Amino acid sequence: MSTKYELKDLATGKTSTLEARGGTLGPQVLDIAPIVKDHGVFTFDPGFMATASTESRITYIDGDAGVLLYRGYPVEQLAEKSSFVEVAYLLIYGSLPSKAQLEAFRNSITRHTMVNEHLLRFFQGFRYDAHPMAMVSAVVASMAAFYHDSTDINEPRHREIFAHRIVAKLPTIAAAAYKHLLAQPFVYPRNDLRYCSNILNMFFAVPCEPYSIDPIAAEALDLLLILHADHEQNASTSTVRLAGSTGANPYAAISAGVSALWGPAHGGANEAVLDMLESIGSVANIDAFLARVKDKRDHVRLMGFGHRVYKNFDPRAKIIRAMCYRVLEKFGHAETPLFELALRLEEIALKDEYFVSRKLYPNVDFYSGIIYSALGIPRSMFTVMFAIARTAGWVAHWQEMVSDPHMRIGRPRQLYTGPTQRDYVPLDRR
Ligand code: ACO
Repeated sequence: MSTKYELKDLATGKTSTLEARGGTLGPQVLDIAPIVKDHGVFTFDPGFMATASTESRITYIDGDAGVLLYRGYPVEQLAEKSSFVEVAYLLIYGSLPSKAQLEAFRNSITRHTMVNEHLLRFFQGFRYDAHPMAMVSAVVASMAAFYHDSTDINEPRHREIFAHRIVAKLPTIAAAAYKHLLAQPFVYPRNDLRYCSNILNMFFAVPCEPYSIDPIAAEALDLLLILHADHEQNASTSTVRLAGSTGANPYAAISAGVSALWGPAHGGANEAVLDMLESIGSVANIDAFLARVKDKRDHVRLMGFGHRVYKNFDPRAKIIRAMCYRVLEKFGHAETPLFELALRLEEIALKDEYFVSRKLYPNVDFYSGIIYSALGIPRSMFTVMFAIARTAGWVAHWQEMVSDPHMRIGRPRQLYTGPTQRDYVPLDRR
């Protein structure tokens, strides 16, 4: 279905017809290409508030209804019935795998988990207090210097090997960053373990004693990875697409995504939420804190609240909140007061006119940090955990873009407001 609009230049009377195209779900998008050709003007949309940057078949969000679909499947169903590895397959290949396909994929991911030993030595160059996101971003970019057999982006098999490799190795790189923080020996991946059990083992095992993997910890981690796996054209995914659109090495494109994810307005929010909860301290201080949030001069935000697309409950937040109870019961006595504080904060904020009128609800990261913390994962690693999950989505989007024969470099335009042309003034006359 398409709708036609007429654009008229009121000065000259010149008109052009614009067509709004409908997808399978969601609002129509207006194809504005004729505006430049017919009228010589560009559109102005800072922050992409009204712009669809691409066509995509991967993920659909209805922000008003609180709906999130991966390849058409509701995230609630995937969270309940699927696994992260199966979801990664779904995102990358577009359909749920058969038993044999899933087994082959799982096998390939498992067998690509080791990283080149030279790459591991990079960690020795980082200071003891380096932020793990800085290390992960740098080491992922460095993968471009190692895996030359899978970087011909025009070759489908190369793209596939790259996809498997990056999904498989991100946990290993994340674990190496974590062990560097602790100054503990690196623990190699184990091929007898499932994806999330292997992550827990690489993080928490030490050579001097056996480590037993708790099934609830593995299940909670798997759930968080599923829920963070993709979110259509968010800032980091758009960054991967933009970097990848130049034909850049795919590992470099993923590294760009890791860097974009780091910011507190995006994947860094999970770390910021726990800092915030700790600084609020107790239920008695919530009102004073929210007064600061509402005072625009204070530049304080209620972290883990609000979303560019969701103007309703983020469905992921509800699922994570429910998992918090199970995880805290088993491991999280230390985190229970923070969880109780978060619950009360949510309750108060959702009744407050400031949040109600702006349609601000808890997002995916309001509760995720509480689970990570209860699992023993330190705050500075939260965004790294997010990066492990989102790698599946980044790869799916990169694949979709690169395999499109109409791929073009992403190159936005601007409204220039700087000085007009002027002549250079020699230093002695300034
Ligand atoms: N606390 C207080 N006020 C907020 C918050 C918040 N968390 N979020 C939005 N607002 C207010 C803004 O001040 C603005 O108010 P105004 O109209 O009076 O000026 C209004 O709500 C709209 O907010 P914008 O910043 O314009 O919304 P935008 O879509 O650009 O930002 C964002 C979305 C970045 C997520 C924002 O809600 C935010 O900063 N949230 C806190 C950080 C966070 O949790 N980020 C994680 C997002 S999920 C993810 O990336 C994984």
